[in-house]
Amino acid sequence: MEKKRIVIFDTTLRDGEQSPGASLSVKEKVQIAIQLERLGVDIIEAGFPVSSKVQFEAVKACSSEVRNTIIAGLARTLEKDIKSAYESLGDAAHPRIHTFIATSPIHMKHKLHKTPDEVMKMAVEAVSLARSYVDDVEFSGEDAFRSDPVFLKEIVEAVIDAGAGTVNIPDTVGYAIPSEFGAFIRDIIENVPNIGDTVISVHCHNDLGLAVANSLAAIQNGARQVEVAVNGLGERAGNASLEEIVMALKGRHDYVGFDTAINTKEIYRTSHLVSNLSGIRVQPNKAIVGANAFAHEAGIHVDGLLKARSTYEIMTPEAIGLTDMKIVLGRHSGKHGLQKRLEDMGYILSDSELDAAFERFLVVADKKKEVFDEDLAAIIEDEIHSVPEYYKLDYFHISSGSSTIPTSTVKLLVGDRVEQKSAWGDGPVDATLKAINSIVGMPIKLGEYSLRAVTAGTEAIGEVTLKMTVNDNLIITGRGASTDILEASAKAYVDGLNKIKYWQDTREN
Ligand code: KIV
Ligand code: ZN
Repeated sequence: MEKKRIVIFDTTLRDGEQSPGASLSVKEKVQIAIQLERLGVDIIEAGFPVSSKVQFEAVKACSSEVRNTIIAGLARTLEKDIKSAYESLGDAAHPRIHTFIATSPIHMKHKLHKTPDEVMKMAVEAVSLARSYVDDVEFSGEDAFRSDPVFLKEIVEAVIDAGAGTVNIPDTVGYAIPSEFGAFIRDIIENVPNIGDTVISVHCHNDLGLAVANSLAAIQNGARQVEVAVNGLGERAGNASLEEIVMALKGRHDYVGFDTAINTKEIYRTSHLVSNLSGIRVQPNKAIVGANAFAHEAGIHVDGLLKARSTYEIMTPEAIGLTDMKIVLGRHSGKHGLQKRLEDMGYILSDSELDAAFERFLVVADKKKEVFDEDLAAIIEDEIHSVPEYYKLDYFHISSGSSTIPTSTVKLLVGDRVEQKSAWGDGPVDATLKAINSIVGMPIKLGEYSLRAVTAGTEAIGEVTLKMTVNDNLIITGRGASTDILEASAKAYVDGLNKIKYWQDTREN
C-alpha cells in the first residue's frame, strides 16, 4: 500500500549553514536542533563532521541533546569521512550516516577526475562501510539530475544492494523544471528493480526559484522524503523551503494527499530563531514567514477580509503560530515571565545567561514601556555570546557634527589587556570601526552594513548586522543591538571579530 506520509529531512544546519555568512557556532546549532525537534522534523542533518572541528563538535552536541529525532552526519564516500561521521554521531539515539558522491558526467570528469566505474565502486564501498557502523544509511548522487539516467539507475540499484535505506536524488544546481523532475523521479522508481521499500528522497536547490515546485512534483511521482531548510537557506539561492513545502502539503492536502509530522504552529518561531541566529533576514514578501505574508494593503482586500477571512487568506496566521508571538512583557513581568517567554521563543539559557538577559531586559523595559518578542530576540543575541568574547568593547567616545571631522576613541579589552586608539572617518560609524580595527589589525573587508529598528518608535532597539570578509574567503556576520545605534555598530563589529577569531582558532582543514 502507498505510504501517505512525507519524511521531512531538515538540512538547515548543514546545507543551510553553507549560505554565505550564515556560519553557526556549536551552541547556536544545538539551540536550532532543539527547536527543529519541537517543530517535528523527522531528520536533522546537523553538519559535515570531517570538514572542521566545529562541524564535528556540533554534530556531537546535537547527537547528545536531541533524543527523539534522527540525527544525520554528512560524509563523502571516503573512509575518513564515514569514520568521522560515525564518531560524531556516537551519542545519537537514532544516528544516520549520509554519504554522497557526484554522479553527473560534468562532476565526475572535472571535479572528481574519476570514471563512472570508479564512482560506482566508491559509492558501494562507502555504503557498506557506513552500514557496518549504523543501520540507517542514506546515499546521495550529487548532481543526480544532470546524470546519465541509465548510470544513475545502476548506481541506485547497487547502493540499495549495499544497504542504503534511503537514496537521495538531488537537483544540486537547481536546473530542473517540475514536470521534467517528476518524470525523472518516476523513471527511477519504476525501473530500479530492487527499489522495494527504499525511500526515494529529493534535495532541490533554488537557482531558478523552482526548488519547492520540483520537490512537490517529485512527491507526486513517488518521492517520500524531501530535504528542506528553514527559510529556504542553503548554498547559493538556497534549498527548498521547509515552511513552503509543509504548508503546501497541509493547505492542498485535498489535491496532493500527503501528511507530515510537522507541528505547523512552531513554524514561525523556528523561522525567527534561524533568522536571528544565522543573521540572514527573511525577505518581507517571503511566502509563509515573511513580514508581509499575512499583511493586506489594498482597500478592496481589507474589505473582503473583514467580511470573511477566506476571501484573501488561504491559511491563517495562527496555523504557523504567528499570533502567539505578540505577547508583550513589561518591567513587572519578572525573571520567570522572561524565562518562560524566552523558552517559548526557542531560547534555552543557563542560569547565568538568564541573569545577564534579565539585567539587560530591565534596562530596555525602563526605556520602552513594552518589550516585544523582537526586542527580546535582539537582547538575547546581543547578550548571550555564542563564541568566547576575546575582544570586548569597554568604552567609546565620538565627536561628530556638521562642521567637525568625525573622530572616535575606543577602549577595547583584548584578552586580558586593555587597548585604546582613536581614528577619524567619513562618519561616526566609520571612525569607530576604524579605531577598533587599528587595535585589532585584521585584514577585514566590510560588505553589507544594515541597520534595523526591531520595533517601531524612536526609543526602539536598533540592530546592526555587518558582513565581514577576512582574507577574501571567510564571510562572517557580526551583530549588535542597542538603543544607541553607534553602540550597536561597534558591538556588531566586535561580535564579528570574536567570531572570526573563533573560526580561525577552531578550523582545522
Ligand atoms: O546539493 C547537493 O547535492 C547536496 C548533497 C551533498 C546532498 O547538498
Ligand atoms: Zn545541497
